[in-house]
Amino acid sequence: MTVKAVVLAAGKGTRMKSELPKVLHEVAGRSMVNWVLAALAGAGVDETTVVIGHGAEAVVTQLPQGVATAIQAEQLGTAHATKTGLADMTLSAEDVVVVLPGDMPLIRSETLAALLSVHTSNGAVATLLSSIVDDPTGYGRILRDDAGAVTGVVEHKDATGAQHAIQEVATGVYAFSAGVLSMRLEQVSNDNAQGEYYLPDVIGLLAAAGQPMAAMQADPYEGLGVNSHAQLAEIARLARARINAHWMSQGVWMLDPDRVYIDADVELEAGVRLHPDVQLRGATIVRAGAEIGPNVVADDCEIGENARVLYAVMNLAKCGNNTSVGPFAYLRPNAVLEERAKAGTFVELKNTKVGSNSKVPHLSYMGDVTIGADSNIGAGSISCNYDGYAKHGTVVGDRVKVGSNTMLVAPVEIGDDGWTAAGSVIVKDVAPGSLGVSRSPQKDVAGYAERRRKRAEKEG
Ligand code: UD1
Ligand code: CA
Repeated sequence: MTVKAVVLAAGKGTRMKSELPKVLHEVAGRSMVNWVLAALAGAGVDETTVVIGHGAEAVVTQLPQGVATAIQAEQLGTAHATKTGLADMTLSAEDVVVVLPGDMPLIRSETLAALLSVHTSNGAVATLLSSIVDDPTGYGRILRDDAGAVTGVVEHKDATGAQHAIQEVATGVYAFSAGVLSMRLEQVSNDNAQGEYYLPDVIGLLAAAGQPMAAMQADPYEGLGVNSHAQLAEIARLARARINAHWMSQGVWMLDPDRVYIDADVELEAGVRLHPDVQLRGATIVRAGAEIGPNVVADDCEIGENARVLYAVMNLAKCGNNTSVGPFAYLRPNAVLEERAKAGTFVELKNTKVGSNSKVPHLSYMGDVTIGADSNIGAGSISCNYDGYAKHGTVVGDRVKVGSNTMLVAPVEIGDDGWTAAGSVIVKDVAPGSLGVSRSPQKDVAGYAERRRKRAEKEG
């Protein structure tokens, strides 16, 4: 026996009113369909097919490698989608097929594994996952007989008044015995309120045939599907709470977990400290003892041990151990701070390495610059890396003191132990140990204030 999965992800998601296919909407930085695939991957499923249709090209590019797809050209309903998914699978009758919608990102591996074990241990031909929700609007309702046995699922739009009151709903997740599923899918009709072939109708058909079925209840939030932006926001909030609880259990401190936003694939070490309004996105990694925030957005960054980052926007940047960033810094792709380096207040770095113990403390733009160790870039200094047509690089050696308000006109190099005088426009290389000065000499205009005052008096 092998376990195969069909993920239904062909629908348009009309209620999202969005150009993006519904299953590509993200929850904690991961598309909904990839949440479902991650849950399946951890549940012992051998082979998965994702049924795609609406926006298929876009969906394919977001799926992990090696996941099979089947195209459902016309979205005729979930039963039709399931049939489409099974069409190219090699199935033997005793295989188990898990079917689940691509729009339920909170489903967990543990729950899917439990569903599979309920299914196999009960000798059932179908096992459904239900949950009890406060507001069942829009969901299929589970119908049971007086003895509590499942007799079918009725869709919201087809339900009677009394059925609308049922709070046990279908999550859309089922485990089926493969042979039984293929046969029953052929019997589903589209004679219903939506004119669609409903997968849940298979449950009614099996019950009517007296086939053995089992049901398992999931936590209410796990069964939540996303059909609207309001539901997406609610589910994202629940996902965030789950992610934050996990990291706190791993030794991460958060002043206010409701105001910390960590994507699913971020990695944190014990002892990380997170202040409010921090967004750690993509594949960001934060090492032990680093203190982040308030007000930091970091995309795909690596932040080293005991680094201190506050009020910063960072993208594809690397900050080594004991570095300091901000307040009010902008680190763009390939900004690299080696250990104990600093990018201070109102500093922007792009494709720039700041060597160990070097500092860019105030009001600077450094683009395409390589700075050695133990150097200091004076306040207000700028790398003029763009000549109007092309970008050029700047090299600053070790132990260099760049005076305040120096313009480094690239390509240019300041040798080790070099200096530049404050206010200089440096257009030529500065030799090691030299001072580069380029500014007009100062002259003193004696008695100027007195003369100026008299002129003002005369002019009235
Ligand atoms: C569906 C279930 C409902 C359940 C709810 C749980 C049906 C008929 N209804 O309702 O019992 O309570 O999910 O969230 O199954 N899809 C396709 N092809 C299609 C139609 C749908 O791939 O032809 C996909 C959608 O992309 C989506 C999933 O199937 O990911 C569910 O479809 P959706 O329209 O969201 O169904 P619901 O109305 O939410
Ligand atoms: Ca849905």
